[in-house]
Amino acid sequence: MEPLRVMTVFGTRPEAIKMAPLVLALKEREGIDCVCCVTGQHREMLDSALKIFGISPDYDLSIMQPGQSLSSIVSRTLHGLDDVLNEAAPDLVLVHGDTSTTFAGALSSFYHKIMVGHVEAGLRTYDRYSPYPEEMNRTLTGDLSSLHFCPTGQNRKNLAAEGISADVFVTGNTVIDAMKYTVKDNFEFFSPVLRDLKNNGRRTILLTAHRRENYGQPMQNILDAIVDIVTEFEDVDVVYPVHLSPSVQSVVYPALGDIERVHLIDPLDVDELHNLMAQSYLVLTDSGGLQEEAPSLGVPVLVLRRETERPEAVKAGTVKMAGVERQAIYDMTAELLTSSVSYEKMSRSVNPYGDGHACRRIIDAILWKFDRGGRPEEWSGE
Ligand code: UD1
Ligand code: UDP
Repeated sequence: MEPLRVMTVFGTRPEAIKMAPLVLALKEREGIDCVCCVTGQHREMLDSALKIFGISPDYDLSIMQPGQSLSSIVSRTLHGLDDVLNEAAPDLVLVHGDTSTTFAGALSSFYHKIMVGHVEAGLRTYDRYSPYPEEMNRTLTGDLSSLHFCPTGQNRKNLAAEGISADVFVTGNTVIDAMKYTVKDNFEFFSPVLRDLKNNGRRTILLTAHRRENYGQPMQNILDAIVDIVTEFEDVDVVYPVHLSPSVQSVVYPALGDIERVHLIDPLDVDELHNLMAQSYLVLTDSGGLQEEAPSLGVPVLVLRRETERPEAVKAGTVKMAGVERQAIYDMTAELLTSSVSYEKMSRSVNPYGDGHACRRIIDAILWKFDRGGRPEEWSGE
């Protein structure tokens, strides 16, 4: 029998980190010919993730432009994928999550009448402008997909409420698989700033903020709250690997560049980021991925957004919504810095997002769909 040709299409940092263990597992599985295509929606941040996992893409569309518009990401991806899909002729295309690469990859595959599998399916906030444009990207991708790989049971329920119930599998999130490659005891940091943070006796707050819906006043509120926090708490360092988007860099550096004990650094390789998170006291973030990673390391998270599509860790008590108002962010952070009772309640290690075997389940489900294996075992996560 001819091997099943499975093509992965991804383009940004979070997609790369979460698809990397799946690419590696697909390459190892007998009976599958894995083809890796990247759009290059991100350049440096994508390449950093590919390097850490030792992946060399078969196709690279190199679409990134400085300050790119959403339309340009989608149109350049559609255009680039035409030739790639014609040449590689995969049996199945796998896309991940909710970026513009995800949506364009699924749409292009549909135009080519190639089956689409959606990894990290079924996350919803039910607000089409928050996160923007991700909520719409993932809803449209769900409609275009024939196989849906949900991290949790809640994600499956979300799809069922939209009438999507065939070929939906609860697998856990592949990010937990990825962390098996990156998180190490006695990890040696490359960056001198991180080496110093480990040994200076102060508490580290890891901060990331990059979301489009936080541009403008919400971002300003977040940055003001950070100044308040380091001014009030002298035993705290804030480390912020600043996203390369000009819209983020142009406001973060002027606001925090000269503030004592605030360390603005370039984006980190994912192994450094995960191990920095593991030794941090607290995470403040508007990222999706960090909300999933930190709970498994027992590090509390305050989410710098008004909503989340990841309610599981909130329910488990290790993540709280801090919103985007200066005073509320300060108050909730101060509470965790001063009350050991509040801190202990949030700092238990929980794993609502997976058990590290999501990739195996996804591949089993694919082989089942193409009549090459039995019905896969699913993950029991709620
Ligand atoms: C994208 C995703 C978002 C995801 C985020 C992860 C969309 C619409 N948004 O947002 O869902 O949370 O990635 O980080 O798909 N840049 C570089 N080098 C890089 C990466 C980015 O210079 O390696 C700069 C470029 O000027 C680029 C800009 O950042 O135009 C914005 O990148 P883009 O992918 O459009 O949006 P993100 O905000 O990164
Ligand atoms: N990350 C990283 N280096 C950094 C910041 C984040 O490797 O400097 C990783 C992080 O561990 C997570 C992913 O990037 O796996 C999250 O990406 P991002 O926050 O850009 O996107 P989101 O998850 O919000 O879509």
